[in-house]
Amino acid sequence: MLTLLKLLQDGRFHSGEALGAALGVSRSAVWKQLQHLESELHLPIHKVRGKGYRLERPVSLLESPLLNQDSPWSHRVHETLDSTNAEVMRLLSEGVLPPFAVVSERQTAGRGRRGRQWISPFAQNLYYSLAMRIDGGARQLDGLSLVVGLAVLKVLRSFGLIEVGLKWPNDLLSRGRKIAGILLELVGDPADLCHVIIGIGINVNMQNALEEIDQPWTSMQLESGLLVDRNDLAITLAKCLREYLERHDREGFGALKSEWEAAHLWQGCAVNLVAGAQYVDGIVLGVDAAGAIRLSVAGTERVFSGGELSLRLRDDS
Ligand code: BTN
Repeated sequence: MLTLLKLLQDGRFHSGEALGAALGVSRSAVWKQLQHLESELHLPIHKVRGKGYRLERPVSLLESPLLNQDSPWSHRVHETLDSTNAEVMRLLSEGVLPPFAVVSERQTAGRGRRGRQWISPFAQNLYYSLAMRIDGGARQLDGLSLVVGLAVLKVLRSFGLIEVGLKWPNDLLSRGRKIAGILLELVGDPADLCHVIIGIGINVNMQNALEEIDQPWTSMQLESGLLVDRNDLAITLAKCLREYLERHDREGFGALKSEWEAAHLWQGCAVNLVAGAQYVDGIVLGVDAAGAIRLSVAGTERVFSGGELSLRLRDDS
């Protein structure tokens, strides 16, 4: 089915005869595969008598040779996974040595922060997980997720998305809508040797979501009007991640703190900090050297950190 999709990915018309000849199958076998593409992968196909078949919209498929050429680490490319983070965890437990990355055309159980699901349709977005070894103790984890946010931000801006910014701790928004999210998961003991799985989801060419997404969202294509080459995006992401992770490793988050604050969309804004069922009202002052959020709460500075926290703009801000 993927071979057929590769032939159709340009969004142009291809005759049933030409497709059959390229695949070495009959025209009716082509027809069956086309039906599978529509029903299983939700890729609408147009059929026009005398012209043949074309995808309603062109797609950009991931190509393992491209991703593994001139890349800072190896990439394992999958058609379907439950979650690229879960796959990295399995590979680590099998003894595969980091760094390595896993990408997938779709995820059936994509994980978001705070127990949410990450909607992951086929060939639309980027689902990227990087395995990294942490042997420098907790310091190496300080501000790490914020630094990953900076790397993703640089990538998105390099693709012309100038309105993208960060929302603590590591959401990326464009015109108030979520365009990318980051989920870090730890395996092992942070005081000793552990591994971190850096999971990054970027909404790339998604125009509409079959499943409901429980927050306002956008995608690179919706923002720029252009189909994004996802191989190009993944390669740029790998290079940018390496640059920021090396800097973080050498100099710590303190060296990147002011760059992060300059990109923070809610700097100086009145917010609610949501911690489970508890809310704290405050004004965003910035972040500290470990990446925790600094709020002015009733005139006193307070610092908050933890993966379960999130910010909301206050209605009166
Ligand atoms: C968020 O909730 O903002 C974080 C979303 C992280 C999604 C990515 S997609 C690749 C990786 N695999 C997962 O299952 N989740 C992360």
